[in-house]
Amino acid sequence: MTSGTKTIKRRRKTQRPHAMWGLLRRSSSSGFSPSSTAEEVTAGIDGSGLVALITGASSGIGAETCRILVMRGVYVVMGVRNLSAGARVRDEILKQVPSAKIEILNLDLSSMSSVRRFAENFKALNLPLNILINNAGVCFVPFKLSEDGIELHFATNHVGHFLLTDLLIEKMKVTAIESGKEGRVVMVASVSYSFSYRGGIRFDKTNDESGYNRFLAYGQSKLANILHSNLLSSHLKEQDAKVIVNSLHPGAVATNILHHWCPLYGAIRAIGKYFVKGVEQGAATVCYVALHPQVAGVTGEYFSDCNITELKSHALDMDLAKRLWDFSLSLIR
Ligand SMILES: NC(=O)c1ccc[n+]([C@@H]2O[C@H](COP(=O)([O-])OP(=O)(O)OC[C@H]3O[C@@H](n4cnc5c(N)ncnc54)[C@H](OP(=O)(O)O)[C@@H]3O)[C@@H](O)[C@H]2O)c1
Repeated sequence: MTSGTKTIKRRRKTQRPHAMWGLLRRSSSSGFSPSSTAEEVTAGIDGSGLVALITGASSGIGAETCRILVMRGVYVVMGVRNLSAGARVRDEILKQVPSAKIEILNLDLSSMSSVRRFAENFKALNLPLNILINNAGVCFVPFKLSEDGIELHFATNHVGHFLLTDLLIEKMKVTAIESGKEGRVVMVASVSYSFSYRGGIRFDKTNDESGYNRFLAYGQSKLANILHSNLLSSHLKEQDAKVIVNSLHPGAVATNILHHWCPLYGAIRAIGKYFVKGVEQGAATVCYVALHPQVAGVTGEYFSDCNITELKSHALDMDLAKRLWDFSLSLIR
């Protein structure tokens, strides 16, 4: 992963639903399709010497991303709130890759004090940091305030990651200089950014139960991930820092993410798995953006199915991104 000019052809595509992943083999500018697995998109890549931090690595897309990065030789630190679930994932990976280098640290993204403690514990490991994957997330949860008094989607999906990135970005810049290897921040967003509240972010009502809609609250937090990614990318470009930042939609993936949504989710998931991606495909775009040489020097973009994808205008609104940045700073300081 070295810094350089953009090497990906700018063939943009719009979002569309996919069905029957196993049957799909669409060609694309990256050469990968919705059915490509994370193992396939990273085949032949040597990640040894790199250190990655993955949030929410105890299940779903994060766990599979962890498995694949480790398989490619990356030293992975898992940031998880459920240490025993994290240990189960680590032990499974160690069975497949006995030489794997994996650390587990406790991280609750909905709590700013936990995020600060985690960053201190991470720094105490004295590791460099090449790749930060902001993956953890909650989806469609009933209204709840975090311990810091922030609505739970916004607190977990956006504010926790905004604070974590703020605390670790200097380390990433230094690592990039000292190692001569480009750093990468990967924001796992969602196409749900399209469905946010009117105006994008409800700055004056983020924590109001009145008018709360769990679908729009999730969309708002995922829009915040993309706006954060775009503005951080532009700040780092201005500073000539050798760290790229991109956001992505992993696809519709059969994971536990929707268990709050519906009591029948287990049954829906059992049927739905034939129509949505498995985690093997769901982690593909994450691993591609985190590791693939085609992404070297590419920053401030949004990917899905391992290709740059056009964003709707509200997600490209840099005034909105600046307002969100200042608002987020006011929350974490
Ligand atoms: N699955 C999809 O169809 C889909 C589509 C678009 C975007 N995404 C995005 O993909 C990402 C990964 O989701 P997934 O589908 O893999 O779901 P998942 O299996 O539920 O994984 C989410 C992870 O986030 C962790 N997490 C939740 N709240 C946390 C907190 N406060 N602190 C630390 N970790 C926390 C979870 O930990 P616990 O196990 O302890 O709850 C879990 O490890 C999310 O950002 C999601 O928005 C998913």
